[in-house]
Amino acid sequence: MADGLCSFTKDIFVIKVPKKSPLVLRMIVLVFAMVCGVYICSICLKQISTHSKAGYLHVQVIQKPCPEPQIEPWEIPYVHYPKPKTYSRAECACNPVRYFAILSMQRSGSGWFETLLNNHTNISSNGEIFSVKVRRSNTSTIGETLDKIYRLDWLSSASKNECTAAVGLKWMLNQGLMQHHADIVEYFNTRGVSVIFLFRRNLLRRMISVLANSYDRDVKLLNGTHKSHVHSPHEAEILANYKPIINATLLIPNLKQVEETTAKALEYFKSTRHIILYYEDVVKNHTKLIDVQHFLKVPLRELKSRQVKIHKGSLSSQIKNWDDVQKTLKGTHFENFLHSDYRK
Ligand SMILES: *[C@@H]1O[C@H](CO)[C@@H](O)[C@H](O)[C@H]1NC(C)=O
Ligand SMILES: *[C@@H]1O[C@H](CO)[C@@H](O)[C@H](O)[C@H]1NC(C)=O
Ligand SMILES: *[C@@H]1O[C@H](CO)[C@@H](O)[C@H](O)[C@H]1NC(C)=O
Ligand SMILES: *[C@@H]1O[C@H](CO)[C@@H](O)[C@H](O)[C@H]1NC(C)=O
Ligand SMILES: *[C@@H]1O[C@H](CO)[C@@H](O)[C@H](O)[C@H]1NC(C)=O
Ligand SMILES: *[C@@H]1O[C@H](CO)[C@@H](O)[C@H](O)[C@H]1NC(C)=O
Repeated sequence: MADGLCSFTKDIFVIKVPKKSPLVLRMIVLVFAMVCGVYICSICLKQISTHSKAGYLHVQVIQKPCPEPQIEPWEIPYVHYPKPKTYSRAECACNPVRYFAILSMQRSGSGWFETLLNNHTNISSNGEIFSVKVRRSNTSTIGETLDKIYRLDWLSSASKNECTAAVGLKWMLNQGLMQHHADIVEYFNTRGVSVIFLFRRNLLRRMISVLANSYDRDVKLLNGTHKSHVHSPHEAEILANYKPIINATLLIPNLKQVEETTAKALEYFKSTRHIILYYEDVVKNHTKLIDVQHFLKVPLRELKSRQVKIHKGSLSSQIKNWDDVQKTLKGTHFENFLHSDYRK
């Protein structure tokens, strides 16, 4: 190609230049030949340099392999070696990382549960990232957000950065999760994300917590600040002083709706690798936290939270119109919510 170009320009030149000055002609032909030569050489050099660069990269990869993790074959899709863009994983670069998502509903103890997980030196649960609407506007924004979290580039107060062995988030069912379930399941299954369902057994207690929390959002009982979670018994007592009135007409439809949403979520996400936890069981039974750590394949630790439970004790003391509520639920399959109790 370059050769053709050179002879072509030479021909044009021959036509134009008078025969009288062969020296000048030769000089100019020589210059053209040189220019062509340099051009061809530069192309060759460029190709050689990209070749050697690729070779160099290849050699680098071979030079520093992470040792094969000791895992069962089924686990391979769930084990990752993320490369964050914003920092280096340093001495933990070869520690495998697991991806997870806590799927839950508001006031189901997921805030408390997350503080327990984050008490682990190797777990980063980055909070309710999809409470921000733009992040869940469509499948691509959801995917980009998840990519950033799982690449360990999401920096929150919970992130343990380089030595994270399990990274994830807390995701409420009403934060785009049900709406975009098919795409999210596909993301979870192709990227090897494990799901932790966290639900509450006693939906009546959850309802009290929802009502009290929304009341406090308006009234701000603690010195004018709204708090969903507290760290002292004193604060818990102040918040628990408020006793909501439950609309007896809407009570059963509301409980049914929560039950149905839960069932639907379990159905949608059943093909993912998952574990189902109930808040009440985690409170009562510390083996559940060991189960979770096994599920996430992190080293076992004693996990502690500084959060204090807001509503404790018998339900009758937490609802203003207790008699109505009792009457409404008697004889329905929600009746056990009136009695089932637990201590902490
Ligand atoms: C876990 O909780 C204990 C007790 O509150 C605290 O001393 C420790 O620093 C916490 N660890 C992490 C990693 O947050
Ligand atoms: C997704 O939402 C973002 C933010 O709202 C928007 O900028 C983007 O165009 C949307 N993409 C698609 C494919 O709808
Ligand atoms: C957990 O974190 C510590 C540092 O905080 C690190 O030395 C250790 O290798 C990590 N373990 C795993 C399994 O990543
Ligand atoms: C409100 O503020 C006062 C004075 O700063 C303090 O003594 C009190 O403990 C605070 N109450 C709560 C519930 O935070
Ligand atoms: C309960 O809710 C229904 C429907 O929103 C409403 O019509 C009714 O007045 C409410 N009852 C009470 C006691 O607030
Ligand atoms: C606690 O949980 C474990 C498994 O998570 C279970 O085997 C055990 O029976 C539970 N204990 C109680 C007292 O419920």
